[in-house]
Amino acid sequence: MTGLTAAIVTLSDKGAAGQREDKSGEVIRQMLTDVGYEVKDMILLPDDFEQIKTCLIGLADQKINLVVTTGGTGFSTRDVTPEATHAVATRNASGIAEAIRWHSLQITGRAMLSRGASVIRDETLIVNLPGSPKAVRESLEYALPHLQHGIEILTNKTNECGGN
Ligand code: MTE
Repeated sequence: MTGLTAAIVTLSDKGAAGQREDKSGEVIRQMLTDVGYEVKDMILLPDDFEQIKTCLIGLADQKINLVVTTGGTGFSTRDVTPEATHAVATRNASGIAEAIRWHSLQITGRAMLSRGASVIRDETLIVNLPGSPKAVRESLEYALPHLQHGIEILTNKTNECGGN
């Protein structure tokens, strides 16, 4: 165990209406659990700005260390995950979203169509991922190994970067 907690928020109108199975949330749960996070909550919401905002604020108030969202990062007029994420940010942490896009662009040029953000709210790191299980896996396999160190600095568990 890392001693770190996580929550997963899936944004999908179809998923929330029971018309689509939440496969991406399950991929995230598996990947986080495999590296030792305790997944405290898995939430499925429609692509609704206010509901997403309220949910993210609630998770940060619970001091969840890492919130990973999936879906709603594209160009559809319903896609508002990055806007809701920015709306709850207390600080920017854009390097993670930049790194995910950089890595994903080596796999598909369509990665440039994800508008996913990464921010800090209080002591919680929030990272947006695209909606498909493939995109989720490709994004997290690159970013996840580096998040723990950032969260430990954020929560004052370490201030040592150990030369890495
Ligand atoms: N990133 C990775 N690594 N792999 C992918 O297959 N798909 C892209 C992009 N990012 C993709 C990816 C596509 S096709 C879209 S439209 C955007 O993510 C937005 O996805 P979303 O609307 O499901 O959030």
